Amino acid sequence: MAIDLGTANSRVYVRDRGIVIQEPSVVAVNQKTGQILAVGEEAKKMVGRTPSHIVAVRPLRSGVISDFEVTEQMLRYFIEKARKKKLIFNIRPRLIVGVPFGVTEVEKKAVIDAGISAGAREVFLIDEPMASAIGTRLPVQEAVGNFVVNIGGGTAEIAVISLGGIVLGKSLRIAGDKLCEDIIQFVQEEYKLLIGERMAENIKIGIGLAYQVDQGNAAQKNAVGVKKPPRRDFKMRGRNLVTGLPEEIVISEDEIRRAIEKSIKQIVAEIKMAIEETPPELIADIMSNGIYLSGGGSQLRGLDVLIEKETRIAVKVVEDPMTAVVRGAGMVLENLDKLREVLIETKELEPPR
Ligand SMILES: Nc1ncnc2c1ncn2[C@@H]1O[C@H](COP(=O)(O)OP(=O)(O)OP(=O)(O)O)[C@@H](O)[C@H]1O
Ligand SMILES: [Mg+2]
Repeated sequence: MAIDLGTANSRVYVRDRGIVIQEPSVVAVNQKTGQILAVGEEAKKMVGRTPSHIVAVRPLRSGVISDFEVTEQMLRYFIEKARKKKLIFNIRPRLIVGVPFGVTEVEKKAVIDAGISAGAREVFLIDEPMASAIGTRLPVQEAVGNFVVNIGGGTAEIAVISLGGIVLGKSLRIAGDKLCEDIIQFVQEEYKLLIGERMAENIKIGIGLAYQVDQGNAAQKNAVGVKKPPRRDFKMRGRNLVTGLPEEIVISEDEIRRAIEKSIKQIVAEIKMAIEETPPELIADIMSNGIYLSGGGSQLRGLDVLIEKETRIAVKVVEDPMTAVVRGAGMVLENLDKLREVLIETKELEPPR
């Protein structure tokens, strides 16, 4: 099995079957008994809606395990679910798990240990940007520069890959979750309205905007007969912090663009910095092949155009961007002989057998 344990969503790929599970990385736990009540979609519905003794936990923060036991339980749930659906027959499957680039040895070991105690026979790790490049079918093993950016919930990862390895990689903790926090803060400051995490995410996915494509182009703006696309807005519901009463306020896409502008600028700045640090031969390749965006956050409207404008390199959002990592990890699983070199070296981290 190949597993992408994402901060926001987890996905499971089973050999010869493809992606069989895709669920939010949320677990609902009864704190009185320690019992797991729900995992995935069902647990996500409970976020912010639970009585005090039930907590909906997101066991991964910034792409790394922040709650070991719950992560282990989640892995166990995935393995059992695959077994129940008769997708795997092995009692102790072999796992390939994606981890953010640059995680510490301790964090890598935590993933391996969680996998083993959840029932895996063997756990291999792969850097998420490497997996996303393989999932995009980029020629990662050739002497060619491949530039990938994966923007998930917890981390944005930038990597240059060549000859089966990461030549240059960065992981920053500014991604989808941070944009939601930005929106919550903006709405609180501008409208004195308190909205929840889910509302903020709905606004972001509904009308989120990184760059207004016709922005600043006066000739185009004033041209007669050119139909401007209608500006989008969103009816948000929350609690007025002054009156304490529920309220509905309409917010525009341009306000959301401003709310997330600072974080977006930071991501773009890191991409530019990575380009500056890339060896010249590889830059030549990247200029002709482009930058590949993946991860749920890459779907933010206008982000590709903004990055293209700022870097002067063509930018493509890959097909099915949210599953690139698990598809890539799955391809490694299916071709372990040929692709073993792309895995993270973990010999010293494995528990003694
Ligand atoms: N259309 C969209 N526009 C903007 N953001 C989106 C869109 N669709 C999903 N997202 C965001 O993408 C993020 C989830 O992406 P993804 O599933 O790739 O993350 P993840 O793999 O769980 O996280 P990580 O890789 O950081 O551990 C969420 O923050 C979600 O709000
Ligand atoms: Mg991810």
